[in-house]
Amino acid sequence: MNRIDWGQGRYELTADRLAPAADVAVAALAPQPGRADRRRRVRHRQRRAADRARRGHRHGRGPAERLLGVARERAAAEGADAAFVPGEGTALPFADGELDAAISVFGVIFAEARAAALELRRVVRPGGRIVLTAWTTTGPLAEVGRTLQGIMGIPPTPATWSDPDVLRELFAGHRVSIAEERIAFDAPSVEAYVAEHAEHHPMWLAGTPVLREIGREDEARERVTAIFADANEAPGAFRTTSSYYVVTVGVLP
Ligand SMILES: C[S@@+](CC[C@H](N)C(=O)[O-])C[C@H]1O[C@@H](n2cnc3c(N)ncnc32)[C@H](O)[C@@H]1O
Repeated sequence: MNRIDWGQGRYELTADRLAPAADVAVAALAPQPGRADRRRRVRHRQRRAADRARRGHRHGRGPAERLLGVARERAAAEGADAAFVPGEGTALPFADGELDAAISVFGVIFAEARAAALELRRVVRPGGRIVLTAWTTTGPLAEVGRTLQGIMGIPPTPATWSDPDVLRELFAGHRVSIAEERIAFDAPSVEAYVAEHAEHHPMWLAGTPVLREIGREDEARERVTAIFADANEAPGAFRTTSSYYVVTVGVLP
């Protein structure tokens, strides 16, 4: 498959769908509850940390210039102090220990894992935090990914970011906690959900020329629709739930 141009299509539609996961990731920037009876106090601290994360200086990184433009506009509308600079997660323009925290919601998982983890550990100061989200390998969404790769003849993606053992190894020597969360996606029908992705999602758009060339575009769409239809949680409409990891790394000296 061609390298994915994340700027093509309308990724914003998916970003809106993923906003609840971004909220969970931001909340994970604060200390996590150790005991049930401390939950209220911790929730308060989480809210304060989330507010600080929203107020402080932010630096956004990613290869898609158009999406960085969208982020700039949104940050300006919120009056946020933020800069967005194109580039890969494997090369961050910061000195060692310069950042208080780094957060990535299904973003850095597209970068080469070892180099990206090394870079995140390098730029976040001891006592700071790295939070990232990564899909698990179970559920209809993962099955759709495997099915499309199979049709296109792409070897299965190694689990890396989706494997808790690998994640712990990537951040060995630091305090790693991994929580599994779930997120639901709704649409008026399974066909509407598949059409939204086929027409607008950069990953699907990157695969379309390949599917077309091998004459399997219709088959791909039918098989994806069948997987989602079998797993539909909302008869009369459409709902699918995906699970993902929230990986929190307390950076140690
Ligand atoms: C699934 S989207 C997630 C975007 C956003 N964080 C969200 O929650 O909606 C994947 C993002 O990763 C970015 N990306 C792709 N390859 C990358 C890399 N090697 N390093 C850093 N970011 C990358 C893409 O530009 C895109 O913005």
